[in-house]
Amino acid sequence: MKPLALGILGSGKGSNCRAILESIRSGALPAEARVVISDVLDAPILEIAREFSVPNAYLPPGQFRTRLEPAVEVELAQMLHDAGVELIVLAGFMRVLKQPMLQAFPRQIINIHPSLLPKFPGLEAWRQALAAGEKITGCTVHFVDDKIDHGEIIAQREVPVLPDDTAETLHARIQVAEHELYPAAIAQFCRG
Ligand code: GRF
Repeated sequence: MKPLALGILGSGKGSNCRAILESIRSGALPAEARVVISDVLDAPILEIAREFSVPNAYLPPGQFRTRLEPAVEVELAQMLHDAGVELIVLAGFMRVLKQPMLQAFPRQIINIHPSLLPKFPGLEAWRQALAAGEKITGCTVHFVDDKIDHGEIIAQREVPVLPDDTAETLHARIQVAEHELYPAAIAQFCRG
């Protein structure tokens, strides 16, 4: 079976990217990371790509704060296309993708979010769950559409909220679940 060609986009520490690359290396995930791209020059996710010898690039995002400049987004789609990417994996990518990417890769862009969507979209979802007094939260892998943390749900994993949880301990426990859920969800795509 031909490995599924992934393009991974992230802005930060890259722990999900590491989990995916480790899962590929162990043979558990029949995929191949073709490229890792970040909108942040010194993002640790780029360092992780280099550690795993995956081609990687910094993409200067342009003048906006929460999205890419349209011309940059067209360039991003071209980079991913040139790399032969079949599935785009957002791993802590802090910019909203717009039509250039959504049109170029329909139902081929997925994201992971640290809550049981549709609950708590947006930033610091674990903090939102804690503040709302939830007893159970978790993480969600979903298709990306033009709304934030919104598209069709692919997979979810529950995480209990413990009585003495702080935002930090809860977030850490959700991340452990993410690192299992994301490679498993990508594996579904490998099986077609
Ligand atoms: C994860 O918690 C993910 O749910 C959210 O961004 C975070 C990225 O973390 N979308 P990391 O960079 O993979 O460590």
